[in-house]
Amino acid sequence: MTTLDLAFARSQFPAFAEPSLAGQAFFENAGGSYACRQVIDRLGEYYRRLKVQPYYAYPASQEAGEWMDASHVRLAEYLNVGVDEVHFGPSTSQNSYVLAQALRKLLKPGDEVIVTNQDHEANNGVWRRLATDGAVLRQWAVDPDSGMLDPGALDGLINERTRVLAFSQCSNIVAHINPVAAITAKARAAGVITMVDSVAYAPHGLPDVTALGADILLFSLYKTFGPHQGAMVVRQALLERLGNEAHYFNGAYTRKRLVPAGPDHAQIAAARGVAEYFDALDAHHGGGTAAGRPQRVRQLLREAELPLLARVLDYLSKRKDVRLLGPADASVRAATISFVPLKKTPADLVPALARHGIMAAAGHFYAVRLLEALGVDPARGALRLSFLHYTSAQDIDQLIAALDKVLG
Ligand SMILES: Cc1ncc(COP(=O)(O)O)c(C=O)c1O
Repeated sequence: MTTLDLAFARSQFPAFAEPSLAGQAFFENAGGSYACRQVIDRLGEYYRRLKVQPYYAYPASQEAGEWMDASHVRLAEYLNVGVDEVHFGPSTSQNSYVLAQALRKLLKPGDEVIVTNQDHEANNGVWRRLATDGAVLRQWAVDPDSGMLDPGALDGLINERTRVLAFSQCSNIVAHINPVAAITAKARAAGVITMVDSVAYAPHGLPDVTALGADILLFSLYKTFGPHQGAMVVRQALLERLGNEAHYFNGAYTRKRLVPAGPDHAQIAAARGVAEYFDALDAHHGGGTAAGRPQRVRQLLREAELPLLARVLDYLSKRKDVRLLGPADASVRAATISFVPLKKTPADLVPALARHGIMAAAGHFYAVRLLEALGVDPARGALRLSFLHYTSAQDIDQLIAALDKVLG
């Protein structure tokens, strides 16, 4: 097992050297992570040197196009998919909206779509709206105490009319890691298209999409050390069945079909920086074969987060004045922890924590249906603490000391 060199990891993020952020511990990473140096440098250089229309035959334009292509290539490596299976769009919400328009054309009245009440609304409302065209909706509901989904319940939901199943790798509130590969296997056996929201999981380790078996997988680069873009993988076999959602004359370009907004050239070019950060992390920790790199990086991130996650879960599950949402076992969840304070309001805790140098947030985080299912008033919401591999043990000390003070 390789232990993360935290000083090295933090040295790759300019935010940790920023005087205005000194002394403040960042626990709102599920809202948006810090950006790594590689991304910031590429974005700056692109704007300085390559801010021209890409893919024409003059040097700056050619290079701009090469930078964009490189982002497809490098992220495809980490996601273990084909280069043309990676698509960039303005955000995950926008990407799922476009995907819903594309999938709508594959459905016939009476076809069934399964959604959960665990997901962020981005992987939820767009599919529910398909019912207006005659699709039948089935809800895969969470356990109202734990917020967890039971894969066994799918057997009673999937039938010969089921066409689509949308769920998350993990929720942005309860953070239980769903057994994605087992779920997609069940769906595939029934000919069901799977749509996996990995937004809340990807920052903890870019998923191997082939191993997960998802037809579509979505995540947001701005929560994964990168620029403000949504990334989506659409597997080739499905892509060929989907129509063109972009200008009619662009249908022949697979990368354009699902991006009617038009590409944000600079941000797509800078997305390569996320892979370059992971490369640097891997090389610093001894490296190895290129083929083994994504898995080594995934493991490095996970092992750095696990002990910190266990500490916070342990602390919160012992307090009598909070309701922890989701499981208390670190091994089955990602480093996103939400709780409902029983004596204070979540909204009041945010400025109170800020006075102790803790950056955190409260609300429903667009998972309104999940909070309702858990019996939590979405208007009050929950307090969420989310962290990543670059979080230090000192950050956790500071957090726990602050929670001791603000919870009373
Ligand atoms: C789990 C999850 N899915 C989807 C989204 C939507 O992502 P975007 O902001 O890129 O539309 C978010 C954003 O917070 C999220 O947390």
